[in-house]
Amino acid sequence: MCGIIGYSGHRPAVGVIIEGLKRLEYRGYDSAGVAFVQRGELCVIRAEGKLVNLENKLAQAPSHTATSGMGHTRWATHGLPVERNAHPHRDQAGTVALVHNGIIENYQELRTELEAKGVTFTSETDTEVLAQLVGLYLAETGKLDQAVSQALSRVEGSYAICVVSRSHPGVLYAARKSSPLVMGVGVGENFLASDIPAFLPYTREVVFLEDGEMVRLDANSWQVMDQDTLQPLEKTPQHIAWDVQAAQKGGYKHFMLKEIFEQPRVIADCLAGRVDHKTGRAQLTELSGSPTPERLFIVACGTSYHAGLWGMYLMENWARIPTRVEVASEFRYREPLLGPGDTVLAISQSGETADTLAGMRLARKMGATVIGLCNVVGSTVSREADKVIYTQAGPEISVASTKAMCSQLTLITLLALHWGQEKGVLPADVRANCVRTLEGLPDVLAAELSRMRHRAAELARAYSEARSFLYLGRGPCYPLALEGSLKLKEISYIHAEGYASGEMKHGPIALIDPKFPTFALAPCDELYPKVKSNLQEVQARGGKIISLTHAAQDLAVDHCWEVPAVWGPLNAFVMLPALQLFAYEMADYLGKDVDQPRNLAKSVTVE
Ligand code: F6R
Repeated sequence: MCGIIGYSGHRPAVGVIIEGLKRLEYRGYDSAGVAFVQRGELCVIRAEGKLVNLENKLAQAPSHTATSGMGHTRWATHGLPVERNAHPHRDQAGTVALVHNGIIENYQELRTELEAKGVTFTSETDTEVLAQLVGLYLAETGKLDQAVSQALSRVEGSYAICVVSRSHPGVLYAARKSSPLVMGVGVGENFLASDIPAFLPYTREVVFLEDGEMVRLDANSWQVMDQDTLQPLEKTPQHIAWDVQAAQKGGYKHFMLKEIFEQPRVIADCLAGRVDHKTGRAQLTELSGSPTPERLFIVACGTSYHAGLWGMYLMENWARIPTRVEVASEFRYREPLLGPGDTVLAISQSGETADTLAGMRLARKMGATVIGLCNVVGSTVSREADKVIYTQAGPEISVASTKAMCSQLTLITLLALHWGQEKGVLPADVRANCVRTLEGLPDVLAAELSRMRHRAAELARAYSEARSFLYLGRGPCYPLALEGSLKLKEISYIHAEGYASGEMKHGPIALIDPKFPTFALAPCDELYPKVKSNLQEVQARGGKIISLTHAAQDLAVDHCWEVPAVWGPLNAFVMLPALQLFAYEMADYLGKDVDQPRNLAKSVTVE
């Protein structure tokens, strides 16, 4: 998730762009850059790290008088967060510069093709292929609109792009597919951005661009057109009433809620380029050349640990790999029996969690192979692991992790498929059902999340006086019960315990009374009859029950919460946001600080 801003008007452009980038910094901040045309020259200035480094660099350069240009703040997906990978990227001839938010899935093929034609690349990014293509087509046709359209017709994946060229000073072209892009319409000035806050101080008149649309703008005019045919399209600006802070949250009340609602997009991004549509096979090029593990140890903390625990069911059932899952703070001190042939999968959203890092270092010292599964490119986990797989969830701002777990579940699923394929043990029907379900999940969730939120709010109000909750689940729903209870306690400060349903009678059942409710995960699977009898034990002690379940189940509980059934263990992808939304609505109803709960930090870099 990166941030883009483009400007053409009457003000000094660099100042407007930097201010806009500051308001987009929440989208990512590992490097930044600007491009503008000044005295016939295409100037590109970039810097690694936070935006202030770019500002310092700009302050050293001669004064910038351009009144149009564009900028980018990067959240790395391909290539390390270093200056050569920062945007804008230029074509070889230095005629065009381009910024991009999204993922070009077929960039390797395009890069090989362009290299064969003598093009030299200067970065490891997927984006540079687009800049090179636009440059080549512009040289052929002399027309920037055609060049952008032609280049876009070659790429697969998602993009929001903005292009400037020294041959067209004052003009910006932009286009989108599955990545956000909005235009701000001012008086004698026009804007482009990934998100409205970037230009909100200058205009509240906004044109929302749709997939397949391209726009040409300068200071005094703008025209939206079809990306393929270049035929003009009618668009009407809309007035936005939000303030900057509300706009950064995309109109949502909290970042946590926004991030929960981003999960359909996150799944699609995680899958991009990782399923071969012709063969239906998972493809994790990050692991090419790595042997399939003989034994797998998954090491992580908190929510990432819960994702790993869920993964154990898939690794053992589908890939037939003996798997152990441990919290990193225990693993690091217990002298585990590890050696060559063993693989440690270290899962960490931030890539900086001290205990997880210590577990990785121990594993490497003992000769095991370490694979990092993390969200932050260039983080310590990614640098120290033998192999790294990025989760592509985009920056997670809310302290309580939501979309990161969804991305971890997606990648763990792909990993289990990958290893199951490699070993030749993955049943064909499992692969086919799994891939079909994964690809359908973004639509299922997008259609369901608002309804889920409504039900979560109803239930949160009904149970807002509870001081304790028991979360129960069996099989792959057990880790979800742990995660549901963690979410509730960390943001609403209500005590909650996650338990394996069958284990309840060995102790926790003593707690049950009419004031101690149970939140049960009861999907329609082979364990359903067992879960049902566990719930009857709760009811016999006067305990109230919310049951997260599928249609046509015969549970007679206080509150049934039906969510759509998908397939097998992937039902977790639908149950997870329900648990997150219940915790969110409870915390919000109780007036808690949802995005920054007390005593917690986003990255736990100490023991
Ligand atoms: C809970 C939460 C934490 C983290 C844990 C590990 O909502 O966010 O439990 O999951 O601190 O963090 P990472 O994944 O960054 O290693």
